[in-house]
Formats: sequence, structure tokens, C-alpha cells
Amino acid sequence: MKILIINGGSRLGNTWKLTMLVKEYLLLESSKVEFTEIHLKDLNLPFCAGCSSCFRKGHVYCPHNSIVQKIMDKIEENDGVIFSAPTYNLQMPALTKNFVDHLCFMLHRPRYFNKKGLVISTTGGVGAGNSTKNMAGTMKGWGFNCCYTLPISAVSWNNYVETEKHKRKSEATARKFYEDIQSKKLHAPSYAILIPYNLFRGMSFDYVKESEYATQDGAFWQEGNRLKRAYDAIVPLPIFKRLFGNMFYLLGRIMSKHMIVTYKK
Ligand SMILES: Cc1cc2nc3c(=O)[nH]c(=O)nc-3n(C[C@H](O)[C@H](O)[C@H](O)COP(=O)(O)O)c2cc1C
Repeated sequence: MKILIINGGSRLGNTWKLTMLVKEYLLLESSKVEFTEIHLKDLNLPFCAGCSSCFRKGHVYCPHNSIVQKIMDKIEENDGVIFSAPTYNLQMPALTKNFVDHLCFMLHRPRYFNKKGLVISTTGGVGAGNSTKNMAGTMKGWGFNCCYTLPISAVSWNNYVETEKHKRKSEATARKFYEDIQSKKLHAPSYAILIPYNLFRGMSFDYVKESEYATQDGAFWQEGNRLKRAYDAIVPLPIFKRLFGNMFYLLGRIMSKHMIVTYKK
């Protein structure tokens, strides 16, 4: 089992300490788990330029693709991803947000359907629940099959000491994450994930090659059998979720008749 740890914090502080505890618990589950680390602070990723090239032309046209692509490839190579970042102002820190901005195109064109995630955050007192939930939602929007969260109030600026309760919570979360990856079982997506997936699927027709405002979305949804299914083919989808997804697909088709996203040529 291969697990990638992405550190979205600007230092190895309280959150990293907690993340290393989770790593120890995962190694107790199996000493064969292999870890790779990426520290966003070391990558000097410039701020997203807002050029929208990723949406329109494809993410390989991002001016920072040489950096972003390496992280995307690492995610592909691993079975699970642990995202570790502190809570600032009740949210993820700017370093993490900048990385997330570079992957926004993935909400239009998701991937990573067989990957499982875990988001870890510490906060002084409040806000870690909000920040981990938000990041887990983003990862599910990228296609992650499921995403666990571990929000912890450290009650410390730089001297976090794990309580017995935190240790129990971390161990239980690490076990659930491990067992889920180990099972290789793919869960059906939630209704909240099926809505954007199928709206983009339905709206894609107006952006296909040769159309007035062609984008990479048009090309992506035409590939394989994506247009035919309410979610990626490798993920099982019960009939009622298929119907629900297809309803939003039709809504997307109707909406796109009244609204075309334009751009300067
Ligand atoms: C810029 C900044 C913003 C913070 N915002 C919050 C906050 O919104 N709520 C809170 O309870 N603690 C807040 N804190 C405290 C940190 O979340 C807390 O100390 C956390 O454990 C730091 O993790 P780290 O050591 O991994 O950086 C903030 C700290 C900093 C430096």
C-alpha cells in the first residue's frame, strides 16, 4: 500500500506532529505501508495566475504545470493521500489554498476515482472541523472515492502534546483509512458529488471541438463512455443515484441552452 502525505502547512509544527502520529498508527496496521512526502512550502509554487488556461485549453497549459503536474502524478501513483495542514482563520492556510486553486479545473473534469483521502488539521481552539470538511469536500470534487477527516484542537501555538483522547481518535481514524484502502472497495458517490459531476456532463456539448467556445471540458466528456454514465464506470452506482445523476445531466443540457461561458479569443 502506497500513501502520499502532502504537507500544506508552512512549517513542521503541531499538525505535522499529529500527522506523524497517524503515520505510526498506519505502520502498526502494516509495516509494509510505503510513504512519500510532498511539502508544498518547498515547491515555490507561484500564485494561480487566474489565466483559466487549465479550464479552457487543458491543465498542461498552466504556466506552473511543471510543478503542479509532479504532484498530480504522485497522487496517481499512490493508493491514498493524507493532506496535512493547520487551520488559519477557520480555514486551510494560503499555501494550501494556492495549491487547491491550481486544481480547480478538476471540479469540471474529475479523476482519482480509486483514491482514498484523509485530511488532518490542528487548530488552536476552533475551526479545524470546518477546514478539514472543506478540504475533504474539495478532494471528493476531484474524484476521490472517499475522504476521512481528523480535526484536532491543539490548544497550543507550537507545543502540542497529544491527549489520550486525541491518540484514540487518531488511531481509530488511521485504522478506518487503512482498512478502506486495503479493502479496495469503491463507495457510491454522495448526492452532493453527483450534482456538479452531472451538470458538467450535461453542459459539455456546447464546448466540444469546433464549437464557438470550445474548451477542454468538451473534449473530456466526449472521451470513452463518460457521456453515457452518471458517474465514472469504475465506481458502482445504485439505480436511484443513477436516476438522480441523470436528472442533473438533463438539467445541465437545458441550462447550457440559456448560458454559454465565453472567453476572449
Ligand atoms: C495565522 C494563524 C491563524 C490562526 N487561526 C486560527 C483560528 O482560526 N482558530 C484557532 O482556533 N486557531 C488558530 N490559529 C492557531 C493554530 O491553528 C494552531 O496553533 C495550530 O495548531 C497550528 O498548527 P501548526 O503548528 O501545524 O502550524 C492560528 C494560527 C496562526 C499562525
